[in-house]
Amino acid sequence: MASNFHLSETEINKQRHYMSLVRAFTDKPRYVYIKTFGCQQNEADSERLCGMAEEMGYQRTFDPAVADMILVNTCAVREHAELKALSITGGYKKYKEKKPDMILGVCGCMVAQEHRKDDIKNKYPYIDILLGATLIHRFPEIVYTTLCNGGRNFWIDNELSVIAEELPVKREAGAAAAWVSVMYGCNNFCTYCIVPYVRGRERSRDPQKILSEIRALISDGVREITLLGQNVNSYGKDLDRNYDFSDLLRDICAIPGECVIHFMTSHPKDAGHKLIDVMAENPAQKGKVGIACRLHLPLQAGNDRVLKAMNRHYDFDKYMSLITYAKEKMPDIALTTDIIVGFPGETEEEFLDTLNALKAVEYDNIFSFIYSKRKGTPAAEMADQVPDSVKQNRMKRLLDLQNEISRTKNAKYVGKTVRALVEGISKTDSSRLTGRTEQNKIVHFEGPTSLTGSYVSIEVTSAEAHALYGNIKK
Ligand code: SAH
Ligand code: SF4
Ligand code: F3S
Repeated sequence: MASNFHLSETEINKQRHYMSLVRAFTDKPRYVYIKTFGCQQNEADSERLCGMAEEMGYQRTFDPAVADMILVNTCAVREHAELKALSITGGYKKYKEKKPDMILGVCGCMVAQEHRKDDIKNKYPYIDILLGATLIHRFPEIVYTTLCNGGRNFWIDNELSVIAEELPVKREAGAAAAWVSVMYGCNNFCTYCIVPYVRGRERSRDPQKILSEIRALISDGVREITLLGQNVNSYGKDLDRNYDFSDLLRDICAIPGECVIHFMTSHPKDAGHKLIDVMAENPAQKGKVGIACRLHLPLQAGNDRVLKAMNRHYDFDKYMSLITYAKEKMPDIALTTDIIVGFPGETEEEFLDTLNALKAVEYDNIFSFIYSKRKGTPAAEMADQVPDSVKQNRMKRLLDLQNEISRTKNAKYVGKTVRALVEGISKTDSSRLTGRTEQNKIVHFEGPTSLTGSYVSIEVTSAEAHALYGNIKK
């Protein structure tokens, strides 16, 4: 069952050849530093960039001052993300001045936009490489070209439909959690969103390749796997047999071993009862591969006119009926969403529908964003852009309401026992450890750091909006 998007043998061999040419350039140790912005897809891409860099003789460093190559993997989803990436890149100029041979590369979604090319050419003369998000498989070639010929190599997206899975990936050794991309790209063209323009069309990986990657990760001791795609529920539409995301989940859960499977993101227009049924039939449990009892289902807005203007293809009633079905099948399910406030034309009444939606669904947590104009998207051209002060005010009211809901939902865990994967020392209190439950709840508790990477049972003693607190159960 193949998809048409896989890289050809010839292209893979060509890039492998470039990797060996770069490796042969010098015997001296070389280091690569990678700074990643944006979503999990970008994190996964950085793992691949790191894998290819390693094949080319660059070891990963976490200190940009010693790097022979610095890569900034950028995001374009909101203006703030672009500004942050540009400002950090500006900060790397000092390393380039000290070490002129150092290669400074900017890759990812921001530089998959044609208008960025001139912009960066003029304002950032010290950047050597631009490599758009869907050209990542040509990374070895661009490094080789830069080493041989010098000059500035700016390759902006022109191949929007490639799957680059055969090239090496470097995951953190011994890590208990891993990302696995199941598909790339997006066909939905929500009117506010830049992703389809920078990541290209939807393309699904071959299920057999996904299953064997997951089998290998589980036998390496990985305990939590997050399946990635901009819209995982349209997985399989481009495959040459009837096989969808729920079928893939079912096959993953039949793999022997123990692992908790998470996935993101689900689009409400494509998620249905079949998905919920597979989740309910395959709960995460000791000794098995199962699915985490949580669903991230981005609503974006609670008002039907706004949803239509966003081109989301569902209304609130349809969304709510799926939530009701999920709660019936899995009463403990943790629900999360993305919300945009201040979409062009959003009135106060329409915004109130979003607040009402939060109350109706009772999310465990929300990811909320102030609408940001993205060049080239339809919403950027819409009349009635909402003033900044109004957007800020709506954001504050949204967060205040959600904090209250999250606190009430978390309070229900007090007195109960939860299973959590220990992540390590708490960032806010070094006397405590932090763990994460399958519902993606953060739990703080006391215990030895040697527990990192293992599961513990925690008796919850108190709860706040964003965390649970408790003691290890003997
Ligand atoms: N594919 C995923 C989301 C990808 S982007 C999905 O459809 O759910 C992550 C989130 O960023 C989106 O869900 C949306 O809430 C937000 N977002 C995207 N474009 C935005 C913009 N122009 N302004 C503000 N938020 C945006
Ligand atoms: Fe963007 Fe919509 Fe695609 Fe998500 S589904 S990536 S919000 S266009
Ligand atoms: Fe950002 Fe690209 Fe992800 S725009 S959100 S890094 S797909």
